[in-house]
Amino acid sequence: MSERKILVLFGSQTGTAEDVAERIAREAKRRHFNCRTEALDDYNVANLITEPLVIFVCSTTGQGDPPDNMKNFWKFIFRKNLPQNSLCLVEYSVLGLGDSSYPKFNFVAKKLHKRLLQLGASPVLPVALGDDQHDLGPDAVIDPWMRDFWGKVLSVYPLPGGLEIISDDFVLPPKYSIQFLDEKISPDDDLGNALQRDRDNRTESPSELCPFLAPVLSNKRVTAGDHFQDVRLMEFDITGSGIEFSPGDVVMIQPKNPPHSVQQFCSLLRLDPERKLVVEPRDAGCPLPAHLPGVVTVQQLVESYLDICCVPRRSFFQLLSLFSPDELEREKLKEFSSAGGQEELYSYCNRPRRTTLEVLIDFPCTTSRLPANYLLELIPRIRPRAFSIASSMKAHPNIIQILVAVVQYKTRLHEPRHGLCSTWLASLCPHDTERVPMWVKKGSMTFPCDTDSPIVMVGPGTGVAPFRSAIQERFSNEKTGNCLLFGCRGKSKDFYFEKEWEDLVTHGYLTLFTAFSRDQEDKVYVQHRVKENAALLWELVDKKQGFFYIAGNSKSMPSEVTDALKSAFQSEGAISASDAERYLSLMEKSRRFQSETWS
Ligand code: 2AM
Repeated sequence: MSERKILVLFGSQTGTAEDVAERIAREAKRRHFNCRTEALDDYNVANLITEPLVIFVCSTTGQGDPPDNMKNFWKFIFRKNLPQNSLCLVEYSVLGLGDSSYPKFNFVAKKLHKRLLQLGASPVLPVALGDDQHDLGPDAVIDPWMRDFWGKVLSVYPLPGGLEIISDDFVLPPKYSIQFLDEKISPDDDLGNALQRDRDNRTESPSELCPFLAPVLSNKRVTAGDHFQDVRLMEFDITGSGIEFSPGDVVMIQPKNPPHSVQQFCSLLRLDPERKLVVEPRDAGCPLPAHLPGVVTVQQLVESYLDICCVPRRSFFQLLSLFSPDELEREKLKEFSSAGGQEELYSYCNRPRRTTLEVLIDFPCTTSRLPANYLLELIPRIRPRAFSIASSMKAHPNIIQILVAVVQYKTRLHEPRHGLCSTWLASLCPHDTERVPMWVKKGSMTFPCDTDSPIVMVGPGTGVAPFRSAIQERFSNEKTGNCLLFGCRGKSKDFYFEKEWEDLVTHGYLTLFTAFSRDQEDKVYVQHRVKENAALLWELVDKKQGFFYIAGNSKSMPSEVTDALKSAFQSEGAISASDAERYLSLMEKSRRFQSETWS
């Protein structure tokens, strides 16, 4: 029998798949397996042929794409030259995480499962497809999968003689150790600038590991003062960063927790914010989290690393319960982490969007006893956020502009909820000492270099951002062939860049159609404008072989715009519904139809 060894590989965009992978690893350790978890792109895929048992936990993004941290693996595994039976010694199981309200539900997991079969690997179980739409979330699939999986695996790899499964009531050793140094931060310490110096000494482009720290040049509200939503146009100075980007690309921003939350967290856990510490992995198989610097202060760790404002997951409650000295608190925490307690957990935590910090406040006895060594396991790291770049490098070298909708909403909790990144960005003033850690990533939309092809862009709300970048870029070369359909609530409320568009229209460089949804009794949306202008759009798309783009943050807008476009094809091209469908999918294949949506 081969070694009792399990490898858990994950592809995770928002952290859910990573959390599930960690949960599997904990269960494996309780069963005395030698178990490692890794992001797919961090794993040396050449070693895959030698792994006896591999679990893949993969989410699928809204567009049906694999998450960023498995993109290289994805390219590799679909290489045509991989030998048919190369994985014949590998047993595997694929656990997918997706959302059945999107058309490409769990596309990545299904396709990976098929491909592994093709390469000769043997599935332990059929592919499992977790669904966010389920009342209990993906756990409705993960829990039974877990039971079946351990049932099968333990029958092949029984527990070593004399050992039993370590009960959920025992804490496993921590993955990291946190050593507090005797020193506190002193006025001579320059920890705050260490990152900047590190950045200055590197020659490669900024990345998650080494972001560029950009000064804020401006932060202007672009919605009317009496409009319900605060949207900002923010401008950053990227001089000397080496950053390069094209229209359609996105800038990743690493936000910070608000100062009062950091302070509250430190006092709850009785941590001195000024104290210095070093984090070290406890075993070699578990490397340090990516961008954590060597020596940090408690303040820096909590402010820039621990996501204390996120809604905690079930695993948080499970681990928390193990440290509770108080019977009542322990029972409650245990209930929240049990399979039967998920509905209650949902209504306590997920529905009202209660944060980790607020949960810690609700469980004071437990919180005051939390061992620092477990902090990094208990609380996920703050994830970077993606913003479509709204400016062009050609038009504005050394500058990145973005549109930021400041997220704020009410739930049944007394305190309104705030989006972490947008609230932090909105609080920054031009020429502040505070810098914004950032790097640039290729976006999913690309624009034609050939400026003879017209582009039609449908971008309601902040969806207009990438199109402003494309228009600025094309405008610096060729001044025609741009058609924009913009929608917002009211002409005097949230009509972003009104003056800019008007100037371009006046000079004949842009065709603009607007849909102000709430300026009249009946709703008018961008898809109505597509219908009304069917003849022009058909002319641009068919006769002039133009490109058609959709971007925005609504779930049903893209499909409604696509339907309006198909009916324009039918009426103007005098073709049947099925031919219109085929026409669109040909456009999609040749990248003349692209869409990017977010929620
Ligand atoms: P509404 O809020 O009045 O419904 C930018 O957010 C604009 O997109 C707003 O005018 C908003 O209108 C509109 N919008 C909301 N749902 C939409 C949909 N399904 N299709 C197109 N536009 C939509």
